[in-house]
Amino acid sequence: MTDQPWWRCAAFYQIYVRSFQDSNGDGVGDLPGIRSRLPYLQELGVDALWLTPFYPSPQVDHGYDVADYVDVDPLFGTLADFDDLVADAHQRGIKVTIDIVPNHTSDQHPWFRNAIADAAHPDRQRYMFRPGRNGGPPNGWTSAFGGPAWTLDERTGEYYLHFFTREQPDLDWHDPSVQESFDEILRFWLDRGVDGFRIDVAHALFKDQDLPEMVEPEPRPPFGDWLSALMQPELHPLYRRWRRIADAYAGDRMYVSEITVENQETIASYVAPDQLHLSFDFTLLHSDWDAAKMRGTIDQVLTTLGSVGAPATWVFENHDVTRLPTRYGGGELGRRRARAAALLLFGLPGAAFAYQGQELGLAEVDVPDEARQDPIFHRTGGAREGRDGCRVPLPWTSEPPTFGFTEGEPWLPMPQDWGPRSVEVQERDPDSTLSLFRSALRLRPRHDRFAWRESPRGTMIFDRGDLTCLVNVDASELELPDGELVLASEPGITTTLPPNTAAWMRKGTA
Ligand code: NOJ
Repeated sequence: MTDQPWWRCAAFYQIYVRSFQDSNGDGVGDLPGIRSRLPYLQELGVDALWLTPFYPSPQVDHGYDVADYVDVDPLFGTLADFDDLVADAHQRGIKVTIDIVPNHTSDQHPWFRNAIADAAHPDRQRYMFRPGRNGGPPNGWTSAFGGPAWTLDERTGEYYLHFFTREQPDLDWHDPSVQESFDEILRFWLDRGVDGFRIDVAHALFKDQDLPEMVEPEPRPPFGDWLSALMQPELHPLYRRWRRIADAYAGDRMYVSEITVENQETIASYVAPDQLHLSFDFTLLHSDWDAAKMRGTIDQVLTTLGSVGAPATWVFENHDVTRLPTRYGGGELGRRRARAAALLLFGLPGAAFAYQGQELGLAEVDVPDEARQDPIFHRTGGAREGRDGCRVPLPWTSEPPTFGFTEGEPWLPMPQDWGPRSVEVQERDPDSTLSLFRSALRLRPRHDRFAWRESPRGTMIFDRGDLTCLVNVDASELELPDGELVLASEPGITTTLPPNTAAWMRKGTA
């Protein structure tokens, strides 16, 4: 144990609430379902949960369209269920962090309904309504989900901005009432005992008020560094203000930001000591299985964030990207690489995020088009597949058709051959991916010490105090140094690491 704040080295587990565990047979996961699985999460060994949005919402973007920031959607339960979940999680030593979605609301939020119903209503100032130009929208900004980022308000002839779907109007953070409302929203949940917030599109809140053109690169890249009208200087005082709000509470409450840019200096500017605590690192998530590239990325992240005293925050999977075994080539190869990546994820210094199902080694599901729900699929006319394939509900038992997820019809179809991937089956197998995750979470180092060792091309080796993490990405066999083999990503590893595997060794106790 160390005396640093818990979040600096925590292992977080992301729960996509719709798909974790259903408790009432409606085919959608819910808060009581999560509560019933706390023993599983405790045994897995995670320190904290991140719950995706469970607020009242029309679910156009599956909860990232919030109609009320201070309640629970009946689909997921009640505020009392939330309180029970937090209390039980805390009792088991698990922290609870929640998603906050400040960039946009749902178009069904009372603020937006007021804004649309009456152009003179004060709530209209909370949104980005702007006059059109040359008979079209104010500028050529595009939505991250395809199509223009502006929709005409026919009654007034003005346009409103939405960086996501038209049902997700962007708030105007230059309006003081927006800032004040969110102070209250944060306090509402902090008062209820949450340990922190994951801030959705944290770099986007303020827009350059001159609305300068931004030309979307083709194809749209995974990183948003080109979005020059975002990342405005006003964000820094805002996040200092949010930090003061969290710091007024006991218990090291924290923020982790979703800032989807590649430039680490930009990210570091938001995690200076008086602003946010953590920010996801998406460079490993978007990196190929390539030792030199991954090592370069790790170096850059550690050096740049280290210069402002912030820990790194490693991520390989979340609810927006293709599952890792599939990204890494699929099949047996993808599975081996994803298992090796788990030892990298939990071997690196800093905070680590795992996404539900990653511990089961789940591959991306090929959801039939007629069952797809993601607005990205529908808004691009199918040109972009969308994110349903990584959001399919979890298999708990080996029994089809719903594998213990629900007694009803799951909101996305579950592959019928998922039995062997289920928790029930993997729990009994010491060589399963689930068993590997459990061991890695139990044995992972929880201090800041880190040093690279020179290693052959195609490999990465680094020391974490007396533990050495070795990853053979694509070299021929890598000889293991003297010492105790603490954990290996595949069974049968003794003296050498084949390609696509990883191991943790302890020095000098052979
Ligand atoms: C990022 C979230 O992770 C994603 O799921 C969502 O669609 C967008 N932000 C919009 O809120």
